[in-house]
Amino acid sequence: MEEPENHTIQIKLFKLSPIKEQMSGEYCWLYFAHNRACKTGLLTVERATMNDFTGKTVWITGASSGIGAALARLLAAKGARLILSARSVDKLEAVRQSCLNPADQLCLPLDLADPASIEAAWNHLQEIPRDVDILINNAGMTQRARVLDTRMEVYRQLLEVNFMAAVDLTKKVLPGMIERGTGQIVAISSLMGKFASPQRSGYAAAKHALQGFMDSLSAEVHSTGIRVLVASPGFVNTDVSLNALRGDGTLHGKMDPEQAAAISAEKCAEQIVAAMIKGRAEVFPGGKERIGLLLHRISPALLRRVMRKLQAN
Ligand SMILES: NC(=O)c1ccc[n+]([C@@H]2O[C@H](COP(=O)([O-])OP(=O)(O)OC[C@H]3O[C@@H](n4cnc5c(N)ncnc54)[C@H](OP(=O)(O)O)[C@@H]3O)[C@@H](O)[C@H]2O)c1
Repeated sequence: MEEPENHTIQIKLFKLSPIKEQMSGEYCWLYFAHNRACKTGLLTVERATMNDFTGKTVWITGASSGIGAALARLLAAKGARLILSARSVDKLEAVRQSCLNPADQLCLPLDLADPASIEAAWNHLQEIPRDVDILINNAGMTQRARVLDTRMEVYRQLLEVNFMAAVDLTKKVLPGMIERGTGQIVAISSLMGKFASPQRSGYAAAKHALQGFMDSLSAEVHSTGIRVLVASPGFVNTDVSLNALRGDGTLHGKMDPEQAAAISAEKCAEQIVAAMIKGRAEVFPGGKERIGLLLHRISPALLRRVMRKLQAN
């Protein structure tokens, strides 16, 4: 007997404004046709990926604090099984205990500035029968120093933690994801991965590198079913400025006013997880500082002028 014909069509989702009143006639028809096709199952939308984390193993770096800890709690509440990584064993354990079903969650301490430590953690993970379904490269540290005052070892540390470690971990989990034909790689970059302000030269360079790596990876693996998300937050209320490096490698140790007034790590995590569920390529959690992104796109010259003024202050 002949196989029934498969009428499912795959198309790429193009942006249509849901505000029907603002649409011209032909786009309005397209919008309704698209909705109808989705409802009847005629159309499968490529962007629809993971909306259920039950039983999924999610490896989160920088899980001992801030955005990483908030992501851990949120994803555990959605049924994920977590691998929590950072240097601070006590803080990781406290986060594990604060998650739903702590017995399902695993702490895997490592130092991302040290490739040998990453290798040892990875070898340890191989002894545990868990495939990594989602990797969240979240760990990072920023900078508060001008180029003239920043030592080379500080640049190296910023690049290792914010960029090289993410490359290393991504390369480690990728073959398994490709073999299984599914997976998600998330990178927590920053608005500083899109443009740069004074006193962030090493941090911005590392986040720009992360963005470039992830963009290239995304293009390479899209057809294999793997999705890549780059989250580029503005300001988020975490310890990031306390942990920022000064030019000599010591800690900045101050809560900057922009951080103190920013959105919470929980709100940031919610927006990142929503983007993961939708299989998006980008998300920009934050507040009014995101105007910088708009300026960067529509008037880079004006943004440069604003940045020079920041330098003067
Ligand atoms: N907060 C913001 O305004 C903001 C804005 C844009 C982007 N981001 C990005 O968001 C991510 C999370 O930062 P956060 O705001 O949550 O800051 P945070 O509270 O300082 O958290 C940073 C995390 O990274 C971990 N980490 C730092 N160095 C590490 C190393 N060598 N090895 C392993 N783990 C290391 C820290 O854990 P241990 O110290 O225990 O190792 C901690 O868990 C970072 O990539 C940051 O660049 C933050």
